[in-house]
This record gives sequence, structure tokens and C-alpha cells, in this order.
Amino acid sequence: MKLWAGRFQKETDSAVNDFNSSIAFDARLYRQDITGSIAHATMLGEQGIVSPQEAEDIINGLKAILADIEAGNVEFTVDMEDIHMNIESLLTSRIGQTAKRLHTARSRNDQVAVDFRMYVREEIQEIINIILNFETILVNKAKENVNTLLPGYTHLQRAQPSTLAHHLMAYANMLKRDVTRLEDCLERMNESPLGAGALATTTYPINRNRTAELLGFAKPTDNSLDSVSDRDFAIEFLSACSILMMHLSRFAEEIILWCSWEFKYVELDDAYSTGSSMMPQKKNPDVAELVRGKTGRVYGSLITLLTVMKGIPLAYNKDMQEDKEPVFDTIDTVKMCLPVFASMIDTMVVKPENMRRAALDGCFINATDCADYLVKKGLPFREAYMVVGKLVHTCIEQGENLDTLTLEEFREVSDLFQEDIYQALYMKNCVNGRKAIGGPAAVEVARQIAAIEAFVAERQ
Ligand code: ARG
Repeated sequence: MKLWAGRFQKETDSAVNDFNSSIAFDARLYRQDITGSIAHATMLGEQGIVSPQEAEDIINGLKAILADIEAGNVEFTVDMEDIHMNIESLLTSRIGQTAKRLHTARSRNDQVAVDFRMYVREEIQEIINIILNFETILVNKAKENVNTLLPGYTHLQRAQPSTLAHHLMAYANMLKRDVTRLEDCLERMNESPLGAGALATTTYPINRNRTAELLGFAKPTDNSLDSVSDRDFAIEFLSACSILMMHLSRFAEEIILWCSWEFKYVELDDAYSTGSSMMPQKKNPDVAELVRGKTGRVYGSLITLLTVMKGIPLAYNKDMQEDKEPVFDTIDTVKMCLPVFASMIDTMVVKPENMRRAALDGCFINATDCADYLVKKGLPFREAYMVVGKLVHTCIEQGENLDTLTLEEFREVSDLFQEDIYQALYMKNCVNGRKAIGGPAAVEVARQIAAIEAFVAERQ
């Protein structure tokens, strides 16, 4: 029999029963549901709303149910609609009448709100820890490659000299912001909606501060209508995950390019690549491609929940039951993508000679340095820029590089050029000269690495 059967004359249509039910996906909230109920029962007992003995019986019954669920001994039923009613009816079948006092001064609306917050709160912490592990992998890879010359690109055209370490630390900084975004979300959502009831609290003398404290929330939420209607925390979480996935997807795209024969900057470990069913020579970066693909799925979840919430009046509406699957799917996706992607980066073999060749070969990535050389000798930058533009044109016509031109050829366009131009064009000097904050110079990247290491250490 339904918990709410009293008002009804007929059984629920069986299709409606299935349609209405959320147990297939919200069963994963069982632990939070029991934890929330234990806190509620504790408070009811302390406030004298139920007797101390009743509170104790309820709490022991809930603990036993938790143990049985974790031992795999409990089967939930769609007839009980969702995890909340499944657990309540299990409790009733085990401890009898007293169980029926648990739902005093509570609604499923504040119950689901508190369960879902606790679930997301735990998962955020886990995701943060996985990102921090990835940061450590990036830092270690960067340390090995502080002097690994790599062309830096704009428009996917070789632009200025950089290093692999500099490039990896760019991603380390994106991931750092992903961590702080998740931390912000965590802090904002850490208020307890329990006690909001269906929408307007209750006339019982409940103690919301106490349940908030028991459940590790900073405080109770301030408005009961808002408490049961708000899914901002989930939307914010999905936004942070979408941005995180966008970062991973860009990184994935670069790895895919770098694995191609056109680049061959890296070779993925066999354990993190796949073969083709037809072409025997193929080794494909499927992990990176899947991460790029799954990014679309996470964006989809964000849009799903934004759309579910956009038109519903206060307070709870059943539409809101649609909040869970996108969040669960995102959690599963992010937790699957991050560690495999991190291990793929950890195990990939860098091909420094190919990166170096790309940086040196006829692409004039030291042209800015050539112009800067003239500026240091007194020429205004715009004029120096024109002079070097002409030199590049000459080089292209003659199949030369800037540093293979003779001093005479340099002096034909400007007599400011002297023997030291070759030092100025030397790639290592071009990189290490860029030691402004944020630059690719080895000393500066070492500082960037230390900053990320400190960020990770503060959180461990
Ligand atoms: N299964 C519901 C959900 O996930 C629980 C809240 C139900 N409340 C209600 N008034 N029907 O949203």
C-alpha cells in the first residue's frame, strides 16, 4: 500500500507507477537518506517531539537497514516510488509503529533536498581530490620538460618559442581554477534545507540548527520556500564540471593532434591507445577522443537541468525529480574521464626531437626576437617589425631560416645588425629571455610549478 493511499479510492495505474518512480536512479542516495533521517530522529528525540526511546529505536532500525543495504541484502521496489519511501517502509516493516513517527515535522521535499546536497557535497570533494592528483602528474611531467623546446601557436600557426613545461602548466592553471570553482560551489551549497518541510516549515518545535550541525552543514538555509525549490547548487556543480570538461577536451584535442604523424610530438602508451579493426598499422588516441566526446554529454546535463528549472513556480514540483540523472551521469562521467586522462598523460612518451624540429624548421618562430633585437639597438618596434617582415620574405624566397642568413644579408636591410644577432636568434635564449611573470623561461616556469605544488599541498 502507498504511504499516501488514504486519500485515494483506486490503485495507481501500473504505467503511472513506473513513470512516477525514481527508485531506479535515486537508490544511490540511500546512505545520505539514512544519515539525514538519523539526524532528524535525533533532533526529534532531543526536542521531545518523539520520546527518547522512540528516537533510539528509529535510529537503530535505520542503522540496521544501512548495514543490510551495504551487504547487498535489500531489494528496493518501484511500488515505494523513491529511496525515501522505500527506506521508510522498510523501517516500518522492521520496527513497526514507531517507524511511523520518523516523518513527523518533515516532508519528502526537504528530505530529498538535504539528501541530494549531501550527495553532491561528497562527490565534489572526491572530484577535487582526483583533480589534485592530476595536478601532481602535470607538475612532474613539467619538471622533466622545463627545457623541452616546443613551438607555441596562435591560429594553429607556429608563433613563438615555448617549452612543453610552459604548455603543461597552462593546463595546470586551468585545473587549479576548476578546483577553486568546485570549492566555491561547495561553500555556497553547504546549508541545510532540512526542516523546511513541504514548503513552510512546521508548527513543531524543531531545531534546524541542530540537524544542520549533525549533518556537517555550516548553517540551516534562510528561507523554507527557497530551500525546497533551489537546485542552484546542482546547476552550479554542473557548470563547474562543464568548464572542467571543456579544459580536458581542449587538452584532449591537442593530444590527438600531437599523436598524429603530422606532429608526432608524443607517443601514447600502448595501454592508453587502441587499434583499428581493419587497418593493422593504426594506433588511435581513443581515450582522448572519448574525453572530448563526453564533454558534450556533460554540457547536455547542464542544459537539461537549467531547462527543467526555468519555468517552475515555487516551491517543489515533480519536474524536479529530473534533477538527479543529469547530476549522477555527470559525476560518473567526470570521475571516469579524469583518472584515465591523467594516466594517459603520465605514461605518454614525449618526443623532444620532433618538438624541437618543429620549432626550428623554417617557421620563423624567432622573428619577434629578431625585431626585439633591433628595438634594443634603438629602432622603434613598428619599424623593426617591417624590417624583419622583409627578411622573412627573403628567407622564404631563398629557402633560408633567419639564423642561416649571413651577416651581410642581415646588414642589407639594416646596419644595426651585428654578429650578436645569432645569439639573439638562438632558440634557447629566445625562451629563457622571456622571464616576465607567466613566461616560458626555465626559471619562471619553475616558479609556476612551485605555485601549483603549493596549491596542491595546501589541500592535502
Ligand atoms: N522522488 C522525489 C524527487 O526526487 C522526492 C520528492 C517528492 N516530493 C513530492 N512532493 N512528490 O524529487
